[in-house]
Amino acid sequence: MKLVLIGAGYVGLTTGTCFASLGCHVSCVDLSETRISDLQNGHVPIFEPGLADLIRQMAAAGRLNFSTDLRDAVSSADFVFIAVGTPSRPDGDIDLSQVDAAARDIAPYLAENAIVVIKSTVVAGTARAVCEIIKKTRKGKSVRVASNPEFLREGSAIADFLEADRVVVGADDHSTAVALRSLYRPLIDKGIPFISTSTTDAELIKYAANAFLALKIGFINDVANICENAGGDVSAVARGIGTDRRIGENFLQPGPGFGGSCFPKDTRAFAATGRRYKAPQGLIEQLISANDERKAMLAERILGVLEPRRCSRVAILGLAFKASTDDVRESAALSLIETLLKEGVEVGAHDPQARRKAQDLFGADVTWHEDPYSAVRGADAVAIMTEWEEYRDLDLTRLSDLMAGKHLFDFRNLLVAKDVTGHGLFYHSIGRPLLWPRTLNGTSGMAEARPALSGIAASVV
Ligand SMILES: NC(=O)c1ccc[n+]([C@@H]2O[C@H](COP(=O)([O-])OP(=O)(O)OC[C@H]3O[C@@H](n4cnc5c(N)ncnc54)[C@H](O)[C@@H]3O)[C@@H](O)[C@H]2O)c1
Repeated sequence: MKLVLIGAGYVGLTTGTCFASLGCHVSCVDLSETRISDLQNGHVPIFEPGLADLIRQMAAAGRLNFSTDLRDAVSSADFVFIAVGTPSRPDGDIDLSQVDAAARDIAPYLAENAIVVIKSTVVAGTARAVCEIIKKTRKGKSVRVASNPEFLREGSAIADFLEADRVVVGADDHSTAVALRSLYRPLIDKGIPFISTSTTDAELIKYAANAFLALKIGFINDVANICENAGGDVSAVARGIGTDRRIGENFLQPGPGFGGSCFPKDTRAFAATGRRYKAPQGLIEQLISANDERKAMLAERILGVLEPRRCSRVAILGLAFKASTDDVRESAALSLIETLLKEGVEVGAHDPQARRKAQDLFGADVTWHEDPYSAVRGADAVAIMTEWEEYRDLDLTRLSDLMAGKHLFDFRNLLVAKDVTGHGLFYHSIGRPLLWPRTLNGTSGMAEARPALSGIAASVV
């Protein structure tokens, strides 16, 4: 089986490499000549655990190559996957220009029985629209387009593909559905459910799945807000509700607001789809605003302890939208940095993988650090924004000695509260009251700091 992946990003590279590992011959094509020449030279332009090794193995086995020559790759392919970006337009609706352009680019070169498979996340009706685009070039010839949304998560993308919970394939004719089933046979034989639907249903499944997962995160974040003010502990509440199998424990970790390349843009696109089809998605509309407000509220919480704000220093630990990736798209850390810089705060930042991508956005406005300890040196406050394991293991004696101030904001609840307060630090976590340094006298410490910390329940441990 010969496959082409149009778009060698997180999804195109992972999908192509995994299909190669299942025995297919795969070409990954991208517009970016730098990206392709990097890949041809053995350099993988994204950080995804295990991907670089698997790419090297598949390339060495002769089953995976990289090219900018669309014509050559497409003309002999059985399946042409479109895995290009589908960002938001300024009004929040989906920008399908990359998908449309890819469809126009491949149309002249498609082999007679080739199947075009849309891997990108796209709104209902896109597969049918892509079919029309291709038909304009291939007058009188048959055109087969399927929808095959991808559910992988960055950070565990290979396992998510090869051991998927399910494969969803939308096709509007029987032979296309059968061909896709045969392509996925190695996964089906492992017991992975294969869900065959219409193209429109497959497109809707992807958005409905992401909207539901984002709702779970938004819900637990709202519960966390109550816990903070009521003196509760969100992790106990999340465990108490998550062990109910009807609810489930996944996606009940509160944090600084969801980010990344999927949830923000996909919830916006789903809401826009609802408006287009006169079926308003009120819950999702509300979730989108609540998530934006959350990012602003947490920035305000940090600003509230800085006196004066201008020229105070804040160290940001973690830039990626989640651990095990270098992806910073719509990361909560980025919006926090923007707000802090606007307020005249000096920002230093560290991330084990995502620094380069964040540096491309902020340049010299932020001081970039090779290790977390150099980032926290002289900081008035430290904010942990990404759940990297190395932050869980921070040496708190060293951190506390290096900091100028005493406020540690752990927006991923990575640290043990007593350890932090025991090192003379205020511990601001998510979904639990503010905790005071154990070395301070409770009464006088609270009285002194109360104005800057108003609105947050506080206690001493
Ligand atoms: N990243 C994820 O975790 C994830 C998960 C599931 C689904 N998705 C969806 O998959 C799609 C791709 O996401 P991604 O994160 O891989 O994006 P990405 O930005 O990492 O990669 C897209 C690539 O497509 C290339 N490209 C654009 N137009 C092209 C064209 N005409 N010809 C050749 N190459 C072209 C770009 O140069 C880029 O390298 C999106 O629709 C996204 O919503 C992403």
